This record gives sequence, C-alpha cells and structure tokens, in this order.
Amino acid sequence: MDNNKKAIDVLICPVCKSDMYMSDDGRSAFCRGIKKHCFDFSSDGYLSFPQSSGGDSKAAVAARRSFLAKDYYLHAATAVCETVKKYIPNDAVLIDAGCGEGYYTSRLSDLADVTVGFDLSKFACAAAAKSARREGKQGLLYSTASVFSLPVKDFAADAVVNIFAPCAEEEYSRILRDGGYLFVVGAGKEHLMGLKRAIYDETYENGERADLPKKMTMVERQTVHFEIEVDGKDDIAALFSMTPYYWRTSEGDKEKLMRLDRLKTEIEFEISVYRKD
Ligand SMILES: C[S@@+](CC[C@H](N)C(=O)[O-])C[C@H]1O[C@@H](n2cnc3c(N)ncnc32)[C@H](O)[C@@H]1O
Repeated sequence: MDNNKKAIDVLICPVCKSDMYMSDDGRSAFCRGIKKHCFDFSSDGYLSFPQSSGGDSKAAVAARRSFLAKDYYLHAATAVCETVKKYIPNDAVLIDAGCGEGYYTSRLSDLADVTVGFDLSKFACAAAAKSARREGKQGLLYSTASVFSLPVKDFAADAVVNIFAPCAEEEYSRILRDGGYLFVVGAGKEHLMGLKRAIYDETYENGERADLPKKMTMVERQTVHFEIEVDGKDDIAALFSMTPYYWRTSEGDKEKLMRLDRLKTEIEFEISVYRKD
C-alpha cells in the first residue's frame, strides 16, 4: 500500500480540491478538507472517484484488452516509451490521461517513480488495476476521472502522456511543472489503411486532429509506421471495435470485414512532444 501513498500525494480531492492522504488500512483516500471527503479503492485496486461516469464500455475494454495483449502494437508501445524516456528524469511523476486498460501505462510506469493513469471508464480502470496487481507494479495507481478535470495538484507532473484519448491542453498545462512535457499520441495519415481498404470502396488518409495543443512548444514529432497481420476473425473483430469506423460502418460493409480470416494493415502512430515553458 506504500505503493499507492506516493501517488496519492500528487492528488487533490475532486470535490473540494484539498490535498489527499491514505487511510491507515490502505482501503481509502481521504481529503484534508473540512469535510474529509472519502474515496474507496475498488476490489480491483483502482481509486474510485464517484462523480465519474462514461468512457469505454465493458465490451469495448474487453476487446481492446484482448487485441493489445497479443502485442500487435508492441512496436508502437516501444517507440512511445523510448520517446518519453528521452525527456523525463528517473524520479518523474507521470500522468497517463485517458489510459484505457493500461497497455501503455504499465510500460511507462517502469520509467517513472510515480505513475497515475486516469480514465473515465471504470471498466478500463478495473482492468488496468487488475493487471498492475498481477504484475506487482510499484508506484502505479489507476483512478476514474475525466481528462478535462484531473484530480492532480498544480505543477505536480513531470510528464503527461495522452494516447488515442481526448487532449485537454489547459488541464495538462495546469498539472505540468514548468519545463514538463506533454506527449500526444494519435493516428497518423495511414493508420489502419488496410482495414479501411477491406471495408470501403474508396479510402482516404486520416486528417490532422483538431485538438492538438496550441500554447505549448512542440519539440519533436515522429511518425512510427509498420505493418501487422491480424490473425483470425476474433482479433480482426477486436481491432475493428477499437476504431471509430465501428460506429459508422453499415452492416453490409462490416460483413465484408468479418468474412476475412487474416488482415494485413498499416499501423501509423504520430508521436508529438510538447514542452510547457
Ligand atoms: C481509444 S481509448 C485509448 C486508451 C489507451 N490510451 C490506449 O491507447 O490503449 C480512449 C480512452 O479514453 C477514455 N476517455 C474518453 N473520454 C475521456 C475523458 N473525457 N476523460 C478520461 N478518459 C476518457 C475512454 O474511456 C478510453 O478508455
């Protein structure tokens, strides 16, 4: 439980914004405000802030988990970690904003002293916390919260990582120390082109996302491009359900994809690094 104490030191109460501390039995976190707001750890081990709801469903988290566990994206995860490692000190406080089921967070936590992964989805936090417990990860805490209102002290973080999740520049800027870094990871132009070709008659490159930071200084941008061969209908279905196309594809087009037993597709991650000056 000492493990969580360090992480709780960087948090603030989501209700009254006071500092937080851990209960002696390690089952809850209290705030130091007059009302001593109390938040419990779930049985899976994530810190549950009750005002949060929404985010990925249980089914979406399960699909993402099953696909990522097969390491189709390992090359990208390694590139993200290598990039982050270049910029942060060994004793860093790292926040993963929109951490999902923790595939990247878990690896990133090996680079930092304290890592907190936040996600709106309690199912994502539960899956992530379960894995962290199984792997005996130190200094890694998961908690339910929106990236637009993170229960983190001002200037507490050395790094914020934001992977395929909404980018809340103002909020990340508030929690980053001066000279801290924000890593925004999203889809490059050719990301999932092979999957799109399997579904649609006409395919287009992905455009630039609209929510990239505007006030921080960009210090690096790199494209990580590779190909994967997705093996079997279950993995193809899991990958498809992780994409925005899942929601906007007709049943007829979905069937085209579901007939395949193997799918070759380009994977392209855009990693952008920003400094808070
Ligand atoms: C596409 S998934 C990416 C998860 C993880 N970063 C990864 O790449 O595996 C997006 C995640 O962002 C979460 N999310 C969406 N809106 C959010 C918000 N406003 N605050 C926190 N998390 C959010 C979802 O619940 C989901 O887990």
